[in-house]
Amino acid sequence: VSENQPYRTAFHFQPPQNWLNDPNGPMYYGGVYHLFYQYNPYGAVFGNRMIWAHSISYDLINWIHLNHAIEPTDPFDINSCWSGSVTILPGNRPVILYTGLDANNNQVQNLATPKNLSDPFLREWVKFSKNPIMTPPNGIKGNEFRDPTTAWKGLDGKWRVIIGSELNNHGMAILYRSEDFVSWTKYQHPLYISEETGMWECPDFYPVSINSTNGVDTSVQNPSVKHVMKASFNSHDYYVLGNYDSEMERFISESDFTGTSLDLRYDYGKFYASKTFFDNVKNRRILWGWVNESDSTEDDIEKGWSGLQSIPRQVWLDESGKQLLQWPVEEIETLRDNQVSIHGKKLLSGAVFELSGITAAQADVEVFFEVPELEEVEFMDPTGVDPQLLCGKENASSNGKLGPFGLLTLASKDLTEQTAIFFRVFRGPSRYIVLMCSDQSRSSLRKEVDKTTFGAFVDIDPCLEKISLRSLIDHSIVESYGGEGRTCITTRVYPMLASDEGMHLYLFNNGTSSVIISRLNAWSMKRAKINGKESLRYRA
Ligand code: FRU
Repeated sequence: VSENQPYRTAFHFQPPQNWLNDPNGPMYYGGVYHLFYQYNPYGAVFGNRMIWAHSISYDLINWIHLNHAIEPTDPFDINSCWSGSVTILPGNRPVILYTGLDANNNQVQNLATPKNLSDPFLREWVKFSKNPIMTPPNGIKGNEFRDPTTAWKGLDGKWRVIIGSELNNHGMAILYRSEDFVSWTKYQHPLYISEETGMWECPDFYPVSINSTNGVDTSVQNPSVKHVMKASFNSHDYYVLGNYDSEMERFISESDFTGTSLDLRYDYGKFYASKTFFDNVKNRRILWGWVNESDSTEDDIEKGWSGLQSIPRQVWLDESGKQLLQWPVEEIETLRDNQVSIHGKKLLSGAVFELSGITAAQADVEVFFEVPELEEVEFMDPTGVDPQLLCGKENASSNGKLGPFGLLTLASKDLTEQTAIFFRVFRGPSRYIVLMCSDQSRSSLRKEVDKTTFGAFVDIDPCLEKISLRSLIDHSIVESYGGEGRTCITTRVYPMLASDEGMHLYLFNNGTSSVIISRLNAWSMKRAKINGKESLRYRA
């Protein structure tokens, strides 16, 4: 990270410059992971000729940037190539389905296939001559028909795909069917329509195993899976669990999207337009999400770039069956360098304890807190409580009984700047309640950045298990996983005083009760190789 680019990251995916948004068409194919993404080649802001940029990797961590895969060229995509997905057809043939903005700025769906299947990097893509293959159906607005998912095969052997849309302010997933992937027939009814939300962007629909952490292929339908429906709206990625009734061709959800703090989200910080894929080599489902900036457009233009991809996360269904769990892919651990560990250390009320010996600007920290003094905690009735607002009101310096305790990341020596990731524990009407917060209010002396505090509940019982936190810290991003992946909060911050060398990491406890660090492991993180073609080391 150079002197004048303190906010570029060391192990998060980003192109050398310019604007990035949604991950597109992630896949594993012939030994290679592919990531396409929304990219503006002309600047650090969203553009009016968006393209699909393309990078490949052998390990999801080190990346080689390739030439752009899909750019506006034809009447069916001349105004932009927007988000979409890959499906791998029988015979191991990947195909891209993406949204084009046509000459009239209508959203249409287009196909593209690899020019040469024996090129292991699939560098060149050919657009289908009969594009578009889907145009906005009757009753659907031309600018509300986008972001096709990975297709799945129905029990009848025919393909299904959904497209994000909206009808009378009800977000929905329009369903299509096809035999040959080229001619598509729309169902009368959507696969799912929500009561409470507006336009859906980037839907994702996939099965999760009910009794295993393994992922399953997108077409799997049997009694050992549930289905996940994810939709992007209100700047967040929400999901519901349910059953796919393939006879009725409907998704029967266990709850509806409300667009409020009651909904399940992949991440309660910055994380949008995400997409999963099935990695058949490691039998896991992997989630990518776009993490945008919190600084201003002027800042982005000055620094010449905007947007990151999250660390790819493995996702699976929690044993409770009530929510998903997420964890950084294991490959990230190959970047771990020198390690520090702590066992059984008491954090007294008011303690601020520096974790030295690792690079505080580039670190992976995992800590388990034990809370022995549970009896005395405050009562809280969580009904109607918005955890994010609660975290904003009771910030990192506001004392409670149990909490706030946690990490002060990307901090200056004197703590003027700090991003606090912490917990509070309350006694609820029927059980204890654990609140997780990410407090950005003191993250930077700079005034023009958005410092909104994030927060969510973590569904764990502190009588039965330790309260765990893993944070991946990378210069201007902190990705935090609470309760072993039950609650994730990602944040973007822009410390000014805390330069790379002057960066510090602390554990703190501002509650009146002590807590115990029962176990902590932290590592410096090496820089991932995320490079242009020149450095390409070909491994056939
Ligand atoms: C989501 C989104 C998609 C669209 C793409 C355009 O962030 O608005 O709906 O396809 O970005 O870049």
